Amino acid sequence: AQAAEALTGKLKALGIDQLPAEPNTYPALNPYDLYRSHVAELLSKSTGIDSKIIYPALQRTVKTEHGDLQMAAAALRQKRKDMKEFAQEIGNGFPESPLVEKVVVMDALLMFWFKPQPLTSLVVPAVLKSGASYGFNNFQGLRDPSDPSKGRKKMIVEFSSPNIAKPFHAGHLRSTIIGGFLANLYDAAGWDVTRMNYLGDWGKQYGVLAIGFDLFGSEEELVKNPIGHLYDVYVKISKISAEEGDKMKELKAKIEELKKEEKDTSEVEKQLQEVADNGVDEAARKYFKRMTEGEPVALGIWRRFRDLSIEKYKKTYARLNIRYDDYSGESQVKDESMDNAAKIMEEKKVSENSEGAIIVDLTKYSKKLGKAVVRKKDGTSLYLTRDIAAVSERYEKYKFDKMIYVVASQQDLHLAQLFKILDAMGHKELAAACSHINFGMVLGMSTRKGTAKFLDDILETVAEKMHEVMRTNQAKYEQVDDPVKTADVLGISAVMVQDMKGKRINNYTFDMDRMTSFEGDTGPYLQYAHARLCSITRKVTAAVPEIANIDLATAADLTLITETQGTDLVRQLAAWPDIFINTLKTQEPTTVLTYLFKLTHALSSSYDHLQILGSERETMLARLALYTAARQTLNNGMRILGLSPVERM
Ligand code: ARG
Repeated sequence: AQAAEALTGKLKALGIDQLPAEPNTYPALNPYDLYRSHVAELLSKSTGIDSKIIYPALQRTVKTEHGDLQMAAAALRQKRKDMKEFAQEIGNGFPESPLVEKVVVMDALLMFWFKPQPLTSLVVPAVLKSGASYGFNNFQGLRDPSDPSKGRKKMIVEFSSPNIAKPFHAGHLRSTIIGGFLANLYDAAGWDVTRMNYLGDWGKQYGVLAIGFDLFGSEEELVKNPIGHLYDVYVKISKISAEEGDKMKELKAKIEELKKEEKDTSEVEKQLQEVADNGVDEAARKYFKRMTEGEPVALGIWRRFRDLSIEKYKKTYARLNIRYDDYSGESQVKDESMDNAAKIMEEKKVSENSEGAIIVDLTKYSKKLGKAVVRKKDGTSLYLTRDIAAVSERYEKYKFDKMIYVVASQQDLHLAQLFKILDAMGHKELAAACSHINFGMVLGMSTRKGTAKFLDDILETVAEKMHEVMRTNQAKYEQVDDPVKTADVLGISAVMVQDMKGKRINNYTFDMDRMTSFEGDTGPYLQYAHARLCSITRKVTAAVPEIANIDLATAADLTLITETQGTDLVRQLAAWPDIFINTLKTQEPTTVLTYLFKLTHALSSSYDHLQILGSERETMLARLALYTAARQTLNNGMRILGLSPVERM
């Protein structure tokens, strides 16, 4: 409301008496909403066409050579034979505006440019006033945007979800990065977001792990490095289990051979039984059975593994600015919920018996969905069974309006089956509220270095490399207060930016040299751009200390920004709130990242033309206001991505 008042005041001075605001737009938060509403209003008056039709036809352009807004005459859906002629007519009828230049018509396309001075005077103070929330639009998550008292919509973002005692692989890394980003995005859009980690922490393999710990475990190692140690134990015990498997195969083959020769097999059969009875597999099966029956000793050991792992995960996630509201997991799904789901599936004839197992034949909906087993012959549940039951449990607990699963595209089928089964069970709304955010693979990561199995190791390796890169500029390196910490943050930025650069579905190659470079569109480059803006403020305030006490939003005379480089930069700043809204549609981190790189490119072309030190005082203030607004916008975008902007590097 405050922003709207300030804006209305400014517009009045320009001769616009009423705030242009088409329905469902936020001109006080989003300059593009203001300009689109304004142009739609003018065009509606001059053409007689409903502004509701004009508004969506006005598109933000990719390049300023094509205007700030453009509109295809055909998009107005009027019955006209000659669209070029129609465009020309609209162009001729477009009136003078205090905000927009004379329209340019190219064939059947109309191009609108914003007048630089009013744009600068509107946008820069707006950025400075909104500060850390510039560009965010927290009306998006309201149940009723016109009545905030009705509360916010509830969202669950399930992401990362590694498996205890197994490597944290590239799929988990991407899920962590993309999921963290989505949670931030929806948070900033006003949704009530619950961040959930659904651990792989249940199944016979945790019986295997317990048996292994008995043989190879060390209390001390467990406490020191639970994730790594449990993995080592798991590898060792799995090897024994595999050897036993081989041995059994061998014995079975021998029995067949003896049978063929019609010889006595009893001795070998005894041997086989011996291995089967005393092997890891059987022990693990028994152990897991004790766990499922809630036997306290068995459960106690497992819980310790789980708790210690979570404790360690928490520290690693903190390095990435991620905190979970709920450490859930496959183990947390109650038998009761699974029985309940089984009952519904049976009653609704969704499931059927197939040779003792319970399956759901999804081919009747789509061949691709195949048949899914939901209960094994021995009565045990499966990954899919637990997911089905977990949805209802989560709904009971959170009453979510939307739930996002951030999981690799290798699991496309699994999630498609899950959603279809929910739907078939009659949970239509629940199924519709769920969505799968998928992503492609990371290539060439596991081979980089033997240790890059766990998130911590990956981050460590990249931080070391980043530290090396920093050292190549000794003079700068010496000015950084805590180079180790900075190298860590830069390394994390390098990994994250590389991950978010392309569309999610694309595979990419883990390229240490490229991602840690300060040149090109990398994480360190983005950080460098931010640090440089911070250093500008530091230098100016050191030279002219009284500037620190000036409110740039009100005191700076922005009409002094006349250079095209300055205006181009303002144009980028003006676009951020619209990019934000668009990102909610694409759900792609690259939408934000591509924008931030454009912004930083506009910045680097402006430095030579808009120097601060050595300028007149008034010019100095105006330019400082512009750079401060740029720093704020860059900072806000970086934080949505989950990056920690550095002030020095
Ligand atoms: N733990 C699983 C894995 O590593 C991912 C879990 C994805 N989420 C889910 N609700 N199924 O493959």
